[in-house]
Amino acid sequence: MSTPVKVAVTGAAGQIGYSLLFRIASGALLGPDTPIELRLLEITPALKALEGVVMELDDCAFPTLANVVIGDDPEQVFDGVNAAMLVGAMPRKEGMDRADLLAANGRIFTGQGAALGKVAADDVKILVTGNPANTNALIAKSNAPDIPAERFNALTRLDHNRALSMLAKHLEVAVTDVEGLAIWGNHDDSMYPDLYNTRVNGKVAADLVDEAWITDTYIPTVATRGGAIIKARGLSSAASAANATIDHMRDWMLGTDGKVVSMSVPSDGSYGVEEGLISSFPCTVADGQYSIVQGLELNEFSKERIAASVARLASERDQVRELGLIG
Ligand code: NAD
Ligand code: LMR
Repeated sequence: MSTPVKVAVTGAAGQIGYSLLFRIASGALLGPDTPIELRLLEITPALKALEGVVMELDDCAFPTLANVVIGDDPEQVFDGVNAAMLVGAMPRKEGMDRADLLAANGRIFTGQGAALGKVAADDVKILVTGNPANTNALIAKSNAPDIPAERFNALTRLDHNRALSMLAKHLEVAVTDVEGLAIWGNHDDSMYPDLYNTRVNGKVAADLVDEAWITDTYIPTVATRGGAIIKARGLSSAASAANATIDHMRDWMLGTDGKVVSMSVPSDGSYGVEEGLISSFPCTVADGQYSIVQGLELNEFSKERIAASVARLASERDQVRELGLIG
């Protein structure tokens, strides 16, 4: 077998970690022929629990799991990593907005960004899942000036998968009948799933549903799904978040074969989104590089919704600047 790909996961003893690690180790990320070395970061008090998780990983005897390293020192754990999934952060509780976590979680990403800048492999790809994911990714990026900006992404693939599944259910079609669907903006309740550039069996999705359903049901249900899960489960989404984290990183590393997916990436100014903000766009990936899909027609409604969500990103950026977490 080839040299193992080093995959870091932070918050590895948490709820998402408990779903994520076993799927990565079993080959769901890079397939059955690529050995993986897991590099797992936790805070010191959670290391004991993490040791238990590693015992369980051992007990699965996964052929693709070459090695596991655990620790509480980011520079040691991130040494030479090719992929980093930054999950470790506090989840919100019922009644909170994700942005309420900025002060509590933002600082985690200054140190982890700086550590990645010092010790990660040259080809590292960094995906932030810990909330508020887009702005935490911005913090990590700002604290690692030697890593190219486009290596920092944030997770809106869970929102994408939710949007896909809800549309397919409503239209009674398979998820594979839907193409071009994407989430724009922030991973908060302002996010915008655009049905005007989505096709279902070749037809424009927005033409197949009532306009009122889009505005009054579909958009708010997709955008508040995380809160609905917290209300129902008493805990935030975990298995679906782990699944989306794998979907995003797998597609980023292996490519999308022309398929459009939602990725939060540093804006290059496309579609008027302020350059540098980490915003969700329709993207494709080839040869390990994502591209924002160009040339889409956005109607006035879409433009307004995207601008409103980007304004939230700019406001979060301003808050973390005030907190001294970015320059
Ligand atoms: P959890 O509380 O179960 O686990 C978080 C883990 O992170 C804990 O084990 C904790 O010890 C660890 N941790 C805290 N600070 C750390 C640090 N500095 N370094 C390393 N580890 C650290 O939470 P969870 O349910 O696994 O959720 C994790 C995060 O993911 C939350 O912020 C949650 O809101 C977010 N989330 C995002 C999405 C998304 O779509 N972007 C979806 C679901 C959850
Ligand atoms: C989600 O979308 O499920 C997560 O971001 C958790 C949350 O706080 O909603």
